[in-house]
Amino acid sequence: MHSPDPTLSLETLPGASLDGNRFIRACLRQPVDRTPVWFLRQAGRYMQEYREVRKHHTLVEICKQPALAAEVTITAAEKLGVDAAIIFADLLLPLEPMGLDFEFQAGEGPVVHHPVRTLEDVRALRTDRAGDLAYVAKAIEKVAGHFGNRLGIIGFCGAPYTLASYMIEGGGSRNYIHTKKMMYNDPEAWKLLLDKIVAVLEEYCRLQVQAGADVIQIFDSWVGSLGLADYRAYAFEASKRLVRSVQQMGVPVIYFGVETAGLLAEMASTGADVIGLDWRQPLDEGWRAVGHGHAVQGNLDPITLFAPLDVLQQRVHEILRAANGRPGHIFNLGHGIVPNTPVENVQAVVRMIKEFRLEKR
Ligand code: CP3
Repeated sequence: MHSPDPTLSLETLPGASLDGNRFIRACLRQPVDRTPVWFLRQAGRYMQEYREVRKHHTLVEICKQPALAAEVTITAAEKLGVDAAIIFADLLLPLEPMGLDFEFQAGEGPVVHHPVRTLEDVRALRTDRAGDLAYVAKAIEKVAGHFGNRLGIIGFCGAPYTLASYMIEGGGSRNYIHTKKMMYNDPEAWKLLLDKIVAVLEEYCRLQVQAGADVIQIFDSWVGSLGLADYRAYAFEASKRLVRSVQQMGVPVIYFGVETAGLLAEMASTGADVIGLDWRQPLDEGWRAVGHGHAVQGNLDPITLFAPLDVLQQRVHEILRAANGRPGHIFNLGHGIVPNTPVENVQAVVRMIKEFRLEKR
């Protein structure tokens, strides 16, 4: 592998003159003028503008009103000066058309009222109403209309395992006992559940791509609860199927998880274009585990955003040096921005990335 000249100018790169392309090109491991950056959960409670909107609307209301979802998406991306905008939505939205009611309870996170525990529960889930999620596509259309080619537009969905875990546990979980019980004890229910989830997500992603999403990110946020053998036996195939079918829609896929150090090579063999890395191992080690035939996204600890700027800069530079100018690095956090994060520190990170020059070694 050759190291690209980090001082390459836009003019030397055909097709690299549009900012939106910087992010998409990195997803495809093509050379870029500088590292693209965006943040997981870049629109959220840490941002004053979002809290204002939340005073008048619930989270689900914002998601279901395309004008509001687009506004929240656009405001955050503009305010931070990032290279990509992730559509404001939530992982759990597909549960509703599948027949499961949920709500977000203050301080408790999501609660699914009648969790899926038996084969009969799984059989009752519907797969014919993904079209009800068209409000997300409408919001994407508005965001795409606003940004044009200036920024990359990211659509997203949960990965089959992570979504199944919410449906079965009824919310967040520490030990995933109900999920793993179904996985181990009722292979028929487990397989049918993942098949149904994939069917709905394929349709949901297609709506998002048709509306103008440039890239789809698949969040396998809780896949780190699985050991490698269980990931292989119970989660890999459904993830791979979803990754491949989204790619057939003509867009690159980012596949993200947390506490995945032991799963990275297997996650990469889903064929995802980009693998999300958490912060628990240095970026170059993670990239080596993924394999350099894939792009990577990451991997600043989101809590570093509470550190003084000199410490923050040190960590940001470490990540950029570990990437070493290799095509296919997208700067991001290892997980989402948390409430009370100082916005000015997030903006400072964007500045640091825009100003960074790799010294030649
Ligand atoms: O800019 C963005 O990234 C915001 C869009 C977004 C939201 N949820 C809005 C949201 C995205 C990409 C998500 C994805 C999501 N939702 C994930 C995967 C990302 C990850 O962190 O791993 C997960 C696991 C969920 C499920 C979910 N939704 C949780 C666990 C919570 C937190 C509950 C809490 O109170 O902290 C939510 C709620 C949620 N989704 C919020 C936002 C901005 C905060 C709550 C609010 O505004 O009331």
